[in-house]
Formats: sequence, structure tokens, C-alpha cells
Amino acid sequence: MSRKYRVGILGATGTVGQRFVQLLENHPQFEITALAASDRSAGKPYAQACAWKLAGAMPNYVKEIVVEAIAPPLDCELVFSSLPTGVARETEEAFARAGFPVISNSSAYRMDEDVPLLIPEINAEHLALIEIQQQRRGFGKGFIITNPNCAVVSFAPPLAALDKRFGVESVFVTTLQAISGAGYPGVSSFDITDNVLPYIAGEEPKVETEAQKILGKFTGGAIEKANFTVSAQCFRVDVLDGHTASVRVKLRRPSTLEDVFAAMKTFPSLNLHSSPEHFIDVCDEPSRPQPRLDRDNGKGMTITVGRFFPDNIFDYRFVALSHNTVRGAAGAAILNAELLIDRKIL
Ligand SMILES: NC(=O)c1ccc[n+]([C@@H]2O[C@H](COP(=O)([O-])OP(=O)(O)OC[C@H]3O[C@@H](n4cnc5c(N)ncnc54)[C@H](OP(=O)(O)O)[C@@H]3O)[C@@H](O)[C@H]2O)c1
Repeated sequence: MSRKYRVGILGATGTVGQRFVQLLENHPQFEITALAASDRSAGKPYAQACAWKLAGAMPNYVKEIVVEAIAPPLDCELVFSSLPTGVARETEEAFARAGFPVISNSSAYRMDEDVPLLIPEINAEHLALIEIQQQRRGFGKGFIITNPNCAVVSFAPPLAALDKRFGVESVFVTTLQAISGAGYPGVSSFDITDNVLPYIAGEEPKVETEAQKILGKFTGGAIEKANFTVSAQCFRVDVLDGHTASVRVKLRRPSTLEDVFAAMKTFPSLNLHSSPEHFIDVCDEPSRPQPRLDRDNGKGMTITVGRFFPDNIFDYRFVALSHNTVRGAAGAAILNAELLIDRKIL
């Protein structure tokens, strides 16, 4: 096992920041040595700055770390970023320019053509963009890599499994997104209780574009995006954690339902510390997946799918579910960092 890398977290007091703190406790390859957040928190011990909202107590090892401002340098070798998009663009570049690898969870750089948008099981070869990015932007040793939008992560893996075998032509997706996806305090209880909100600001364009980059091919100098169209409607629902996607897909080549199941069941996981045993898990019960019952599958790192049927308009329909703050955020970024170690980029 490799040595432990010293890591900093930008946005450490937020919903995703807290998940980083929880998932990195006792991690064999990383130890937290720096925490940073807004002026509201900077200068205070983490225990005082952070209103801890996850189940279980705040881990002791972070309580006394004094939260700093989000400016380089920090006392660490790489940073995980869970900053709001507006702040992320300038800050993440500043860290990369100062020589830090930035493993970002925000949307600021996801679609930039020289920035990898990674799901390691699908497109680890996109890491080759790092060198191009460093040269183009004059970053020296620093760089930025990203993980996808938390709703995209639920349906991009089953699409990847289908695309590999049959080619995907078009996708119609409706997302049912959890409250924690809006951060803390997020949506008011008055608005979300007993309700479904048919609008999440800025979400549909991300859901309609990111999967094509993730499933794209690295062609030597750039990513050639996958050639399919996504039509999306995104809803906020009264669920705490776990984004569900209702998906209809048209394929380029004929397939049977058995072929579709086989494509899901045989899509391999990786052998990294945070990799789940099953990257994609297929439910047989007709009433699954459900967020409360299935979001913690594979410690929150498995994509759970089910309800596959031939569709009257498209070829197939199905339901996909993932944990938005684990596989959709902190867990995804940590897996990306483990991939960097595995590929000897760190
Ligand atoms: N929640 C999810 O499921 C999820 C999933 C995927 C991606 N994301 C992305 O992850 C990022 C963080 O989301 P979140 O849900 O964790 O949000 P959040 O709960 O609102 O937390 C935001 C964090 O950023 C800090 N911050 C806010 N404004 C700042 C500023 N002007 N300068 C410095 N720090 C600032 C906050 O610090 P203070 O506590 O000091 O205010 C806090 O630590 C966003 O880009 C979001 O789109 C979230």
C-alpha cells in the first residue's frame, strides 16, 4: 500500500465537505491536514465552524483543525474541492496554478475540453487530458480533474454498459433528486414537504450534456463526445439522500432484454480502495430500486438499476439510483484520487 497523501478540503463545512470528512476517516491513502471554507468559518476550529448534519458524531480527528480561507497555499499535497460553482472557477485555478492537483466536485470546469470528467470504471483513459491541460494553461505540476453532476452519475453507467454493446442513439430522462443535493440548508421544508418541485436551477443543461463527454473517446488530443441526444426534466423530491432517474433509451443495434441484463451485470468494477464489489447492481424485485432502501448499496458507491422493460416509444425503459453525496460527490472524488495514485499520476 502506498504512503498517505496529505489532503485539504475546500468547502469543508458544507454537505459534500462533511461527507469527505466522514469518508476520509481511516482512509489508507489520504489524511486530512487542511480544511477551508468561507469567511464565516475561517479562523474557527472545525467543530465550531461546522454544523454537522450526517448520521453519527463528527469524527474527533478533525474537530481541532482550524478552518482556513480558500486560498493557496494550504498545508497539503492535493485538494478536494466542494465549493459552490461561482467561487470554484477562480479558486480551483489558483490552486492548480500554485502546483496543487485539484480533484473537484463542482461544475465549474466539468465541460472544459482539456479537463477530465471522470467515472473511473468508464473513462479512466481521459486522464491523458491532464498533460494537455498543464501545457495549455501553464499549470506546472498542478491540474484539475472533475466528477460528474450527482444526477448524471445515476444513469451514465447503465448508458455506458448499453453504449458499449448496442450504441445509444437517444435518451429521455426524468430525475427525482434528493433534498441534500441542494446543499445545506438547501430547499426550505415549507417548499419541499408534501411536494415535488419541477425545477432545479441550472440542472437540466448539465444532465443533458455531461453523459456524452463521459462516454466520449480520447482520440489523442481531445475527447470526441458520444453521439447521442439526452432530453431531461429534473425534479426535487421529498427524499433526503439518493437521486433516482427514470430513463428511456433508443439503441442503434437490436438487442434482447437478456442482452441488456448481461450488459449491466458484466460491466466491471475496479480494484481501488473505494470501488464497490458491483459497479452496477441489477434489482430483480419489481418495486426496486428505492432511495431509502438502495442508496447505501456498495457503501453508497454502487449504481442500482431495475425495472427494465421494452418501451412502447423508445427501445427500453429502466430506473437507476445512486447516492448523491457519496457516488455523486465526495465518494466519486475520492475514487478519482485513488485512480490518480493507481495510474502513478500522484
Ligand atoms: N450536495 C450534493 O449532493 C452535491 C453533489 C454533487 C456536486 N455538488 C456540488 O458540490 C459543491 C458544494 O455543494 P454542497 O451541497 O456541499 O453545498 P453547501 O452545503 O452549501 O456547502 C458549501 C461549502 O462552500 C463554502 N462556501 C460557500 N460560499 C463560499 C465562499 N464565497 N467562499 C468560500 N467558501 C464558500 C461553505 O462554507 P461556509 O460553511 O463557511 O459557508 C461550505 O463549506 C457545489 O458546487 C455543488 O454543486 C453537490
